[in-house]
Amino acid sequence: MLIKQSPPLQGTVEVNGAKNAVLVIMTSLILTNGTSTLNNVPNNADVRLMISLLQLLGAHVTFNAEKKQLIVNTEPIGSYEIPPEIMNKIRASILVAGPLLARFGRARVAYPGGDLIGLRPINYHLEGFKKCGATILHNDPFVEATITSQKNSYNRIVLEYPSVGATENLLMFASLGTSETVIINAALEPEVLDLIDVLKKMGASIEILPVATIVIKGASKLNPVTHSIIPDRLEAGALLAAAAITGGHITISNARASDMDIFLEKLSMMGHAIQTPFTLGANTPDLGITIKATTNPIAVGVKTAPYPGFPTDLQPSFMALLCAATGTSVIEETVYENRMVHARELRKMGAQIAVDGAKATIHGVEELYGTDVIATDIRASCSLMLAGLIAQGQTRMTGLHHWQRGYDQLEEKLRALGANITIEEHSDQMINNAL
Ligand code: UD1
Repeated sequence: MLIKQSPPLQGTVEVNGAKNAVLVIMTSLILTNGTSTLNNVPNNADVRLMISLLQLLGAHVTFNAEKKQLIVNTEPIGSYEIPPEIMNKIRASILVAGPLLARFGRARVAYPGGDLIGLRPINYHLEGFKKCGATILHNDPFVEATITSQKNSYNRIVLEYPSVGATENLLMFASLGTSETVIINAALEPEVLDLIDVLKKMGASIEILPVATIVIKGASKLNPVTHSIIPDRLEAGALLAAAAITGGHITISNARASDMDIFLEKLSMMGHAIQTPFTLGANTPDLGITIKATTNPIAVGVKTAPYPGFPTDLQPSFMALLCAATGTSVIEETVYENRMVHARELRKMGAQIAVDGAKATIHGVEELYGTDVIATDIRASCSLMLAGLIAQGQTRMTGLHHWQRGYDQLEEKLRALGANITIEEHSDQMINNAL
């Protein structure tokens, strides 16, 4: 990706459906036996991989990318095994374990490896399945979960940490069957709530109680659904950050302000004017966020945390904003142990960032400079793109597959708002030669 210094972004734009919601909702369809329709489905590389995974299990899948519509018939699913080749490509494939275990009483999945941002173990998923009566066998590279006897009639699971994936896997497992399951210290991210919406449409009875407790009364049969995926708060965050860093003025007409309160609060604290249905006096979460950015943003501190805390997935983007703010700010990353790799690349562009473990101290600078940088994960790619929008000269970002995993044509939307971004297409042969 080539990024050149860009004018203040201007205009109105829409976001796609949320990647992190659609991936898990796709796996939840395994719980049903029939044809479901998902609307507002983004066309990114992770969604395409999840389609392959469902097909590998036996599902019939049709994706109309233009209509953003995915039709999945799960009736022919006959396998409960995910081999390492797929597991390594898409970590979210662990989310088939709960539905497969519920449907077949068995799931055999390759153990997902860690990645650059952290070790990313699955112990909470497995401990939860065990609490529900499953036997877990580790048989490298596979983990096999089996329900040997009848499902328990009551399961009480206390998560040590509100893991998004573990909550989702256990929710799906608990929704099929006649048990009652309580998950304490559950993750309640908007994407988890979208999954709950789908599971309820299928026929499960699910209630959220204070504090962060989910009670699930399973159904002996779950029905196919039609569902529209919620707007992507992370894509909305990327666009708002792009407007903020360039001093722009944009509206995201379908973004949900209620999903991103802390992020919007932090943008306001930097001096950017944010308008949402709430700031306009409405008390219902209607859609639409407008940012009118200040050209003299000030430094603010950020500490990532599970929802409704500051999302770790917007931390890299926010770091780019702080690089160009007046003053010194500190970012504390509490969700992943190694999510500061983008700081090294931002430093190559002239940013002043000192990283000490999971803490980064950022001294805002007057200018950044374009150079060659490497994206190491999806959200790092967004951070570097943002820095590129204000850097002198040209920024050339490699590792573009990370960008393409998470975003559906976001570069096109940014270009339409005035960003100077192009993607150089290379043939596979050229890439192989370069390696
Ligand atoms: C999901 C999101 C990801 C986001 C993350 C946190 C998807 C596809 N991905 O990932 O974009 O960054 O939530 O909001 O929805 N952990 C354990 N043991 C476990 C599970 C998790 O120690 O069994 C740790 C992880 O290593 C990590 C932390 O808990 O440090 C949070 O992980 P988790 O919430 O599970 O993230 P994911 O569901 O993998």
